[in-house]
Amino acid sequence: MLKPTVLVTRRWPEAVEARLANDYDVEFNRSDRPLTPAQFREALTKYDALLPTVTDKIGPEALDVPKAQTKILANYGVGYTHIDVEKAKTHGIAITNTPDVLSECTADLAMTLMLMVARRAGEGERELRAGAWDGWRPTHLVGTKVSGKVLGIVGFGRIGQELAKRAHFGFDMQIVVFNRSPVAPELLARYNARQIATLDDLLPLCDFVSLHCPGGAGNAKMINSRRLDLMKPDAYLINTARGEVIDEFALTQALMFETIGGAALDVFEREPSINPMLAQCDNLVMLPHLGSATTEAREAMGFRVLDNLSDFFDGKAPRDRVA
Ligand code: DGY
Repeated sequence: MLKPTVLVTRRWPEAVEARLANDYDVEFNRSDRPLTPAQFREALTKYDALLPTVTDKIGPEALDVPKAQTKILANYGVGYTHIDVEKAKTHGIAITNTPDVLSECTADLAMTLMLMVARRAGEGERELRAGAWDGWRPTHLVGTKVSGKVLGIVGFGRIGQELAKRAHFGFDMQIVVFNRSPVAPELLARYNARQIATLDDLLPLCDFVSLHCPGGAGNAKMINSRRLDLMKPDAYLINTARGEVIDEFALTQALMFETIGGAALDVFEREPSINPMLAQCDNLVMLPHLGSATTEAREAMGFRVLDNLSDFFDGKAPRDRVA
């Protein structure tokens, strides 16, 4: 029997690529460079399945073909706001993502960022590497204690819950939550957490605010200058969700004029290009979108795509179908 034809848009972990090569008639993008809209259009007419990821912009231009051969976009990653879902649906293309398997590692990274910015770890490392450290002194790079503080979690899905677990059990933090839908009382009770009705009511309560909501137009610039002003002057903002959720210009103003204590970002508005003003803020920690970057999570994401794909081609409903 002929195997379905599959295009993988970026390099994946070796173990996953090996299984893909075994199970499908697969083409890998050996250059590991993102495809252009024209390359996507061509691929849509050639392959039964495309396996894109979060750096692939699959907007109206990339999907503008008269008739698609592709039946499924099996995305490597949990976020899929880079795909124009409505346009894909007009071609009858199914879309799947990879939730769950990266939640722990992304929460670990949110905790890392929280600790780094509060304890000035980025500043310390930069100073040391620059050969500028002149020894211990009581007033050197004094930061803020994390344990016992109030943490606001915006978006209480799987990653937000994993962060609550770490912060509550590991750091004795008090958890407040903003979530669009009501959170089950037993889930809140697990972390001794409180759900706050609005984001505007949550922000002034927090020493740390960590974002775990989806990106996309609905949440674009959700953290703007008005909301930054609602934060305590010594509070920290953490973002491992999507860059567009924060108005970056407003954030640089808040950091430069020190109207908040600091911020730590793993995601950016126009990544991989970084607003140069951000690099000038000492009270900012930046990482290059590393939330799920562990061998364990990246392999599990790939195998989850394979599960979705085999279900789809076996005529079953893929467990992670989002459209
Ligand atoms: C995702 O999966 O959406 C992350 O941003 C990459 O791990």
